[in-house]
Amino acid sequence: MSTTAIAIISSISVGAYLMTVRMIPRLREMFMKANLCGRDLCKKDKPQVPESYGVIIGCVFLISMFLFIPIPFAFDKDAATDAVTGGKPATFPHDKFVELIAALLSICCMIFLGFADDVLDLRWRHKLLLPTIATLPLLMVYFVNYNSTTVMMPNFARGLFGTSVNIGILYYIFMGSLAVFCTNAINILAGINGLEVGQSIIIAGSVLAFNLIELSLGHQVESHQFSLYFMIPFFATSLALWKFNRYPSQVFVGDTYCYFAGMSFAVVGILGHFSKTLLLFFIPQILNFLYSTPQLFHFVPCPRHRLPKYDAKTDLLHISTTEFRINELGSLGRLMVKVLRTFRLISWQELPDGRVITNNFTLINFVLVIFGPVHERIATQMLMSFQLMCTLVALFIRYPLANYFYTVET
Ligand code: UD1
Ligand code: MG
Repeated sequence: MSTTAIAIISSISVGAYLMTVRMIPRLREMFMKANLCGRDLCKKDKPQVPESYGVIIGCVFLISMFLFIPIPFAFDKDAATDAVTGGKPATFPHDKFVELIAALLSICCMIFLGFADDVLDLRWRHKLLLPTIATLPLLMVYFVNYNSTTVMMPNFARGLFGTSVNIGILYYIFMGSLAVFCTNAINILAGINGLEVGQSIIIAGSVLAFNLIELSLGHQVESHQFSLYFMIPFFATSLALWKFNRYPSQVFVGDTYCYFAGMSFAVVGILGHFSKTLLLFFIPQILNFLYSTPQLFHFVPCPRHRLPKYDAKTDLLHISTTEFRINELGSLGRLMVKVLRTFRLISWQELPDGRVITNNFTLINFVLVIFGPVHERIATQMLMSFQLMCTLVALFIRYPLANYFYTVET
């Protein structure tokens, strides 16, 4: 049955791709009229580009999933209505059914809140709150359904803690934080054409590959099928968006898409029980987050936009910078800057009046610090290649090394 369900969601996804490709250019005017647009800051004349197209992609994704809801259940003999009682048999997988609905509710809620963010241009602390709110349906259903908060211990810790440990409320905090991380991590690795969608496509492709490998090995079949049901339409609709968002962007995706993508990954990671492996596919986002922390938590001044600076004469991207005086920083800020400078991870220019100019602490700027000014298209390609390389590293870590750390399949 599951192969039929996967074949059906794949066909629905092909339809979704074709529909999205037709819809995107047609809705341009409507978005511009509603003032849902932003300036493409890395172009000569900074043209206005319609923004928040994530809302369209999210809607097509949801419609595809709504049509798919009955498929994994309706045709299953375990789920057929009992001819005598007229009710569902005891074998009906109510837990799986409600999980699917809750996952969709969380994604739907995230799209709505992401769109609200695009329209209202919320502040950073609210951005952290939105994914927490959107994961509530999922966490509540998890609580009612399983409430299993036991985690497997790696081999080296088993002597101390035993094979598994019940971490209670920490498990829920971890799941909520995963959603906050996945959504915001994609949103802050952004600012050059195609990067938000490009990275999401590679992460989705990595999750799909991982699910297929696990299915072929016969590991946790139901969890990986569940993940495929979400990732196939996500991949297809994102591919359609990529067609229009890659350099030179005809449309921008908005925070709506970043939140929608991050939430879709968090949902499959949580319900598919592979959150640790999922985080391995987020290595570039984790590095970008760690590198960004001095600015994100305001130990070092953080401008509203940290995307690279465009040089109209050469059509190349240069690092964007931030300025401060060392004695203006707190002791933690000074320490962070010192460490980054010692390891040559930031550019450094001291002015005669004591001011310091460094690059903004993002992975995009770091690439420019290392490789010098490059064209926008090349910068996106470099970061996407890095994402792809990290997937290979992630799979290497996941398979040979996980077998070393965990004797039981995790
Ligand atoms: C995040 C980043 C910010 C970055 C911005 C770019 C942090 C803390 N915040 O903010 O530094 O500048 O994303 O998306 O790291 N834009 C382009 N070209 C693109 C994509 C976006 O010029 O390819 C510009 C457009 O003007 C667009 C705007 O960025 O309107 C979107 O920014 P927004 O998503 O509102 O920024 P944040 O997510 O708040
Ligand atoms: Mg954004």
